[in-house]
Amino acid sequence: MQVTWHLPNGETRIAAVKPGQNMMEAAVSQNIPRIIGECGGSLSCATCHVIVDPAWFAKTGGPGAFEDDMLDATEVDRQATSRLSCQIKFDAALDGIVLHVPT
Ligand code: FES
Repeated sequence: MQVTWHLPNGETRIAAVKPGQNMMEAAVSQNIPRIIGECGGSLSCATCHVIVDPAWFAKTGGPGAFEDDMLDATEVDRQATSRLSCQIKFDAALDGIVLHVPT
């Protein structure tokens, strides 16, 4: 199972992800730039902001109410499919998901 990140510099990174791992943990383990995960996934830092590729947004679903509030505090302005990646848990339905790292 894998995830693809499109980086701000135009580079694409693809990595294997373990089921149950969240997308912030996967990004940090792959040294994806700009995904910091400062709070360790406790939904209090907004440093794990990603933009879910619109083709995948129906599968990830939108943010919960508190995550939605936190998305107003991201360093880069949120977009329609923005999520905090610590709140997206990888499962088989998300195999092949594409995420964009905000610029
Ligand atoms: S890692 Fe802090 S909100 Fe996601």
